[in-house]
Amino acid sequence: MFHTKIAGLGYYVPERIVPNSELENLMDTTDAWIQERTGIQERRYGKLHQETTTTMGARAAEIAIERAGIQKEDIDFIIFATLSPDYFFPGCGVLLQREMKITAQEMPALDVRNQCSGFIYGLSIADQFIKTGKYKNILLVGSEMQSMGLDYSTRGRNVSVIFGDGAGAVVLQPSLEENSGILSTHLHADGTYAEELAFINPGCHGGYHLGLERFGYTDQEYGGIFLTEKMWQEQDIFPNMNGQLVFKTAVTKFPEVIHEALKANDLKSSDISLLIPHQANLRISQFVQRQLGLKDEQVWNNIQRYGNTTAASVPIALTEAWEAGKVNKGDLVCLAAFGSGFTWGSALIRW
Ligand code: UT7
Repeated sequence: MFHTKIAGLGYYVPERIVPNSELENLMDTTDAWIQERTGIQERRYGKLHQETTTTMGARAAEIAIERAGIQKEDIDFIIFATLSPDYFFPGCGVLLQREMKITAQEMPALDVRNQCSGFIYGLSIADQFIKTGKYKNILLVGSEMQSMGLDYSTRGRNVSVIFGDGAGAVVLQPSLEENSGILSTHLHADGTYAEELAFINPGCHGGYHLGLERFGYTDQEYGGIFLTEKMWQEQDIFPNMNGQLVFKTAVTKFPEVIHEALKANDLKSSDISLLIPHQANLRISQFVQRQLGLKDEQVWNNIQRYGNTTAASVPIALTEAWEAGKVNKGDLVCLAAFGSGFTWGSALIRW
């Protein structure tokens, strides 16, 4: 069996910086509230009509590919994680393939729909394919253009102030070096709270999960299901979140899944060189840090500058930490994420 190593990594964030003060002009919120509850000072928003989840993913991928020392044509599998795809279908994987002008290679492209833990799910999928020798250069991308689909009125403030745009990517390759690369990945899900952090409408659910009343279905048979007049009039067409439930569950599941990974490898939290938590909320990351007894320099936080970039947050943070010289040969790097679904996971990597 091969080991899976990260051969190259890159990130891209759009130029436009949106400080909290800009959101104060759109909704009833304050810089003080946002910073105190989340740690976020600013986020990036992509350029309208010119940037998308796909194009940002491609920019991050180009950097990762160059650092891996391969040509884009060498990529033999594309995995794309996002909750803000350009289209309902097809997925961003094929759009990225076209954007990067590598359609002639006809490599497979898979979209992962696991929100905040999408990158770790993608990493686990890639790991299985590399270990068995099926693929040799997997491109894994996490990218989000969330600014396109947020509610900028006061009603959506608990969600909209948190999210930002950006992309991160890695190239994964097989290695024969013992005790190096991805040591293990650990994935979980609990669909009980699926709607507690969700983007429900428009959609094909037809009211099955939450009851018909809320959505204003008429006796029309087909054609009026995906987007109803009521959904539109009430602007019930944005992401919604039960922040407190998500917060409480996250602070339990993050440490749990990290300990699971450590135990599986006979390691302790003191063995971790660097923790890269999904950047959901600075308070969540600080809580996890305390639970694991890690020092400030052992945890990478950048939510202050980018907000929560969902599937992109782990690869952006990992790349930034690597660029800052915080990830070196032999280091034990722990990735962990929790989010909508609920889904969560961790990965341990011996660099
Ligand atoms: O990456 C995916 C996973 N997502 C997360 O991990 C998010 C986890 N949850 C959180 O980070 C926090 O729950 C939030 C930051 C979203 C919210 O913080 P909170 O301390 O849980 O606030 P809350 O939802 O309990 O709301 C407290 C008050 C409410 O007002 P009242 O009812 O007390 O009058 C909210 O309406 O804060 C109000 N509020 C705001 N005020 C100003 C909610 N959002 C805002 C806002 N600005 N942006």
